[in-house]
Amino acid sequence: MIKVGIIGATGYAGVELVRLLLGHPQAQIAAVGSVSFEGKPISEVYPNLAGLFDEVLVKDDEVLARSDVVFASLPHGLSEEYAARCAETGKIFIDLGADFRLWAEEDYQEWYGLDYHRPELHRAAVYALPELYRERIRGERIIGNPGCYPTSIGLGLYPALKNGLIDPNSIIIDSKSGVTGAGRGLSQTTHYPDCNEAFSPYKVASHRHTPEIEQTLSDIAGGPVKVTFVPHLLPVNRGIVSTIYASLAQPVDLGEIHALYERAYAGERFVRVCPEGAVANLKNVRMSNYCDISLHLDERTGRLIVISAIDNMVKGAAGQAIQNMNLVCGLPEETGLTMAPPAF
Ligand SMILES: NC(=O)c1ccc[n+]([C@@H]2O[C@H](COP(=O)([O-])OP(=O)(O)OC[C@H]3O[C@@H](n4cnc5c(N)ncnc54)[C@H](OP(=O)(O)O)[C@@H]3O)[C@@H](O)[C@H]2O)c1
Repeated sequence: MIKVGIIGATGYAGVELVRLLLGHPQAQIAAVGSVSFEGKPISEVYPNLAGLFDEVLVKDDEVLARSDVVFASLPHGLSEEYAARCAETGKIFIDLGADFRLWAEEDYQEWYGLDYHRPELHRAAVYALPELYRERIRGERIIGNPGCYPTSIGLGLYPALKNGLIDPNSIIIDSKSGVTGAGRGLSQTTHYPDCNEAFSPYKVASHRHTPEIEQTLSDIAGGPVKVTFVPHLLPVNRGIVSTIYASLAQPVDLGEIHALYERAYAGERFVRVCPEGAVANLKNVRMSNYCDISLHLDERTGRLIVISAIDNMVKGAAGQAIQNMNLVCGLPEETGLTMAPPAF
């Protein structure tokens, strides 16, 4: 059994890790950490866990002491210290936040306003989108789990960009996320009367996931890619739908595009290319680690439209983090993640 610990276990992504790890046959949750609720059973904070997991929340030091794999699910800027302590003690560190996602420190400085205090940790870390970087992830010990929007977009565009199907300078991304994407803390925009029966873009062309999206797309394309990215707040709890528009590099029919995506994702357990004519829908991926991708061609304008749907809490956070744990621990990638999405 792998002993796992969760720092930030009372946050939305942290408690989703708890829910998923309770069903993992090879992992045992050794400790859950909290600053605000230390000394209380986690089931007091999240009564859905009552009788299932009543572990008392402990200080982060205790989480580190009891675990072989440490997940950190914290606001950005806090993870370096924990990664350093894990590196010193030979533990695997998986960060769900943004601190180990960006390869260029200048990007982190520009978008997050912070420096890398321990650059050697960042050099040792791997950006862990398994379907793209599986071979780089195996055997690594500091794992930067991707952001939710970048996961849906990287998977949505990978086959098209890799095969030169689209003009990399023409990409426009319109994403919608459920409210859990903003985390547990209250804000005016996530306050019930403000988001219920409302729908609006936010951080238009200025969202912090932009450099991460561009990093992945540039890496796939083999040259710099800039995108226009506009996220929206969708009044549902979970789910992300990214609608991605790009001009075709040369004329190609939808059947060929489908064949290319199906080849690219053949054998991928968690990516489903929807049949021609179907449209990806967050309803079909909720509570699961799937990414559903549908492909559409606007023949009048010569634009490819890719629609990519994930559950932000699972493939966009906790599920993907467990997929990465499985990879680095040498387990089958789907271990503990084979649950079917509910029909409604
Ligand atoms: N929500 C998503 O869909 C999603 C998806 C992908 C990635 N992520 C990333 O995962 C991380 C956690 O996200 P989340 O949505 O779970 O956030 P959250 O609900 O706000 O939870 C963060 C937790 O961190 C703990 N914490 C420790 N030190 C803190 C501090 N100085 N300030 C605030 N909280 C502190 C808090 O628990 P205690 O006070 O009990 O210690 C809090 O419950 C973030 O980096 C986020 O970007 C989130």
